[in-house]
Amino acid sequence: MDKFRIQGGVTLEGKVRISGAKNAALPILCAALLTPEMISLKNVPALRDIATTLHLLKQMGVEISQDGEAVELTASRVHDRVAPYELVKTMRASILVLGPLVARFGEARVSLPGGCAIGTRPVDLHLKGLQLMGARINIEHGDIHARADRLTGARIFMDLVSVTGTENLMMAATLAHGTTVIENAAREPEIVDLAKILTEMGADIEGAGTDVVTIHGVNSLHGAAHSIMADRIETGTFLTAVAATGGKALLTHTQGGLLDAVLDKLEEAGAMLTQHEDTIEIIQNGRPKAVNVRTAPYPAFPTDMQAQFMAMNAVARGSAMVTETIFENRFMHVQELRRLGARIDIEGNTAMVHGSETLQGATLMATDLRASASLVMAALVATGESIIERIYHIDRGYEGIEHKFAGLGAKIERVAG
Ligand code: UD1
Repeated sequence: MDKFRIQGGVTLEGKVRISGAKNAALPILCAALLTPEMISLKNVPALRDIATTLHLLKQMGVEISQDGEAVELTASRVHDRVAPYELVKTMRASILVLGPLVARFGEARVSLPGGCAIGTRPVDLHLKGLQLMGARINIEHGDIHARADRLTGARIFMDLVSVTGTENLMMAATLAHGTTVIENAAREPEIVDLAKILTEMGADIEGAGTDVVTIHGVNSLHGAAHSIMADRIETGTFLTAVAATGGKALLTHTQGGLLDAVLDKLEEAGAMLTQHEDTIEIIQNGRPKAVNVRTAPYPAFPTDMQAQFMAMNAVARGSAMVTETIFENRFMHVQELRRLGARIDIEGNTAMVHGSETLQGATLMATDLRASASLVMAALVATGESIIERIYHIDRGYEGIEHKFAGLGAKIERVAG
């Protein structure tokens, strides 16, 4: 298994190009199942989760051609409507094929995602919504088996705000008979990006990006072209890393408007930010100030940035509280950060972080995707050498993170293992 070797204590400075958003690309790739015509995508990030999704779609019979960040998909000869356990267990977002498959082919078999490191993460809301649209759902041998002659529009109230739940139901509803209203829908920008391409494909969707999404079903969808939005979490991760090291950087191919809650917190920490159309410049003079954060659904502070702010607070001036309200077990990075000397006390879903002037390099283990990014950040600040093991987690969601950090002056190398 590959590792990162990092020599810390460097101030990050330079320019970094932000990739397309993983969490927008995943549902959009699955949306290709909704039409027999070609879907042509640009700005698709080169990530392990993307490769897994393409592999899954290929297994189903989708024709795929890929040229760097450009991907074309044609689902005209889908022969298999199955997402097997081997793929679903490595990537929960495989559940996103469920809605499109049932809507277009009247059947899908998707392995039930198991528990995952950051919490139990059930898919009950996805299933309840499809049932309200008339799908018959059975759990057989660990698989979700869903069938429907044709889905029918329904009023669906989501008990909890769910991002992939909203996306799955929105995709399913595009081909249903009649109108579907999703209430208490997630409002994440990735949902808006998905709605954009679905609309290009001929879907009739109103309200994406608000908490009520209305979809008037159509009989069929056609081909479309789309460029995936910038990754707001990758953007936030690099900004926070630069702030933690007291550096200066220009992020390109991104959009500040997608992450206001994160930018506000960085300014509170003392960063100076300048935004232009598709760039953000950050200048942080000296150590940042510790800032309280509380995760909640968009537009509030994203859970996917919680670990990175924990790492920044660990080297900041003062103390701050980090509260996680989305996932029940998303503090696994704390133990690893403590190995670097970070002073963090946990009580329930709140962590009190006391900033230290320095951390010391150590051997760390990546546990989940965003937690791993926080470990890289902390190791960049720490004095001396750190080794980060199990970085396959980070490869799931960050494109060439070591090259991007190296471009900012970091001393980081991948050690093949
Ligand atoms: C998506 C993101 C992930 C992010 C998360 C929260 C993708 C591919 N992943 O994950 O990066 O961390 O949103 O912003 O976009 N829940 C249920 N039942 C359900 C569905 C969800 O109880 O059927 C719960 C979950 O356990 C969790 C909360 O709802 O506590 C929110 O989860 P959800 O928004 O669904 O996360 P994902 O869509 O899996």
